[in-house]
This record gives sequence, C-alpha cells and structure tokens, in this order.
Amino acid sequence: MKNKSLNGVFGLVAVTTFAIGTVSVWAETAPKPAKLVVNDESEMVTEVKPAEGISHLATAYDGWRFRASETQAVQSDDFENPGMIFVEQALDNWNKVDGTEGKSCASCHGAPEESMVGVRASYPKWDETMGKVATIEMEINNCRTTRMGAEPWKYTGGEMTTMNALISVQSRGMPVNVAIDGPAQSAWEHGKEMYYTRTGELELSCASCHEQHYGDKIRAETLSQGQINGFPSYRLKNGKLNSIHARFKGCVRDTRAETYKPGSQDFVDLELYVASRGNGLSVSGPSVRN
Ligand code: HEC
Ligand code: HEC
Repeated sequence: MKNKSLNGVFGLVAVTTFAIGTVSVWAETAPKPAKLVVNDESEMVTEVKPAEGISHLATAYDGWRFRASETQAVQSDDFENPGMIFVEQALDNWNKVDGTEGKSCASCHGAPEESMVGVRASYPKWDETMGKVATIEMEINNCRTTRMGAEPWKYTGGEMTTMNALISVQSRGMPVNVAIDGPAQSAWEHGKEMYYTRTGELELSCASCHEQHYGDKIRAETLSQGQINGFPSYRLKNGKLNSIHARFKGCVRDTRAETYKPGSQDFVDLELYVASRGNGLSVSGPSVRN
C-alpha cells in the first residue's frame, strides 16, 4: 500500500489496515475529544460515521478537531473569528445593485437569513437548467450573468468567496447532505476516482494524506481528513477567506502534479465527492485554519 515517496514525505512506519465487511478501513489516529460550540450556544457535529461505501473512513471528523486549541478557540466565537468580518462585507454586496437589469441579490432573494437557509448543506448539486452538477459559485455567477446582466465574479476571488461565506453561515449547524445518486452519480464517481488516483512526481492521491495519514504530522502541520464542511475557510497564513477550489489547487500542487483550474468540472466533481465524505457533519464555516 505504501510507496517510497510516501515514506519520504512522512518518514513513517507502516500503516495497518483492517477490514470491516468488504470495505477496508485505515487504522485511524483519532483527534482528541473536543466539542465545537459556537458563541456558547450552537453545538456542531464534528464526528460522524459515514454511510457505507463512500470512503475508507471509519469516522469523519471536522478539520477543526485537528487544530491547536488556540485556533479552535478563535472559531468558537464569532467576535474572535476574522472570517465573520468578511461575512458582513458580503452583505453590502448582497444589497448592492449591479448590472444592466438594475437588480441586487436582495431584489429577488430578499434576506439571506430567509432565502439561503440549507443551501450550503446540499451543494454541490445537480442543476436541472444548467444540466450539470453546480457549485454555489456557479449559481452565483449564473444569477449575475443571466439574471442581473452583471459581470461574473472570479471563481476564487474575494467577492465570490465572501458571498459564499454569507450563504454558508445561513446553514451553520445543519448536517451536510449532498446527493450522490440520480443525475449526480456519474460526477460523484468521477470525483471519487480523482480522489484515489495517485498523481504527480510524488505519486500521492488525496487519500494518501487525508485518509491514510490524518492525525499525523507533515512538516509542522497536523493532517486532517481534508473535509470541506467548514468552508470558506479563514487562513491565518494569508489573512483572508479561502475557497474550496483554491485549497484543492494548493494540495494538488503539493503533490507536484499539474493542477486543475478552479471552477473546472473536474474540481466540481471532486468537490461533490469530498463533500459526500463529510455528509452528516455540521456546516461549520467560516472555519479558522493555519
Ligand atoms: C432576477 C432575480 C435574481 C437575482 C437578481 C439573483 N438571483 Fe439568485 N436565483 C434566482 C432564481 C430564480 C434562482 C433559481 C431558483 C431558486 O433557487 O430560487 C436563483 C438561485 C440562486 C442560488 C441557488 C439557490 C438554491 O436553493 O439552490 C443561489 C446561491 C443564488 N441564486 C445566489 C444569488 C446571489 C448571491 C445573487 C446576487 C449576486 C443572486 N442570486 C441574484 C434569481 C435571482
Ligand atoms: C502531501 C499531503 C497532501 C495531499 C496529497 C493532499 N493534501 Fe490536502 N492538505 C494537506 C495539508 C498538510 C493540509 C493542511 C492541514 C489539514 O487541514 O489537513 C491540507 C488541507 C486540505 C483541506 C482543508 C481542510 C480543512 O479542514 O480546512 C482540504 C479540503 C484538502 N486538503 C483537500 C485535499 C484534496 C481534495 C486532495 C487531493 C486533490 C488533497 N487535499 C491532497 C496535505 C495534503
């Protein structure tokens, strides 16, 4: 199962696998028990047993569980969480008229606290009109271009990512519940295949790090399972909100493979698969990470 390059990256001993039914599960390095309670009132589900056949994880853990206690504390309080400042900024954009139709998001959707509840929890999702699996970013740009007569926002840009955070916050505490069957099935299968395919000079797959080695240290970082229920994510490293595809791009680059373009259907499919690995975890963004 392990190859030389992986040993090179981690300088590690063998990883044991064991089987549960027909699905083999990697021996896990469980994070310390901790409860994520936001603002002393909303408790998030940070661990859940995934449905069978989705991944090789015995338990899915929110990435928050792997962070240092100081970082954990910042995410537990909206006054401390710098990501929340961006959520407020996005509200200005929500109410701002833009484009040839003279409309704002609010003109059609009213208040986000009413119209956007539950949206984050179900995306990416099959969009009948587009005829493909769509992300929230794609929905936003679809509204901007076809309904507002406005310019699309850059897929991983600030306006887009902060708007996504405003929408995500409306689902905070709700369980991630993306559909992987019906018209979304082939996209999900493609995403899953991408997840387990070793690529790049280091011959690593997403699973090499995020399933076989979560809980272990890599350089100065503790590896998580690479869950996305907490996105967008405020990173202390760059002082802004980061989108899912920007994170994917960074991780692919770390394997020294050719990366995909944010917003490409490949990354959308990968996002659907990664979201499904965390079905049942609470939507917890904006998260705070290193
Ligand atoms: C002219 C009316 C109009 C405007 C303006 C508009 N939207 Fe929409 N939006 C719609 C319609 C219609 C749909 C599809 C039906 C639905 O889900 O409500 C939609 C769907 C969405 C969805 C998917 C919702 C879901 O439940 O799946 C998101 C997210 C969204 N819009 C965000 C935005 C944002 C952000 C803006 C401003 C940048 C915006 N929209 C501007 C009409 C509009
Ligand atoms: C060489 C190891 C490595 C590989 C391979 C890798 N990642 Fe990561 N990834 C990391 C590290 C290190 C971090 C930062 C610590 C953490 O949150 O796990 C990270 C973070 C993430 C996060 C953020 C998690 C959070 O809670 O904020 C996501 C999402 C992610 N990776 C997805 C992926 C995907 C998808 C792939 C495959 C395309 C991938 N990673 C491949 C090392 C890796």
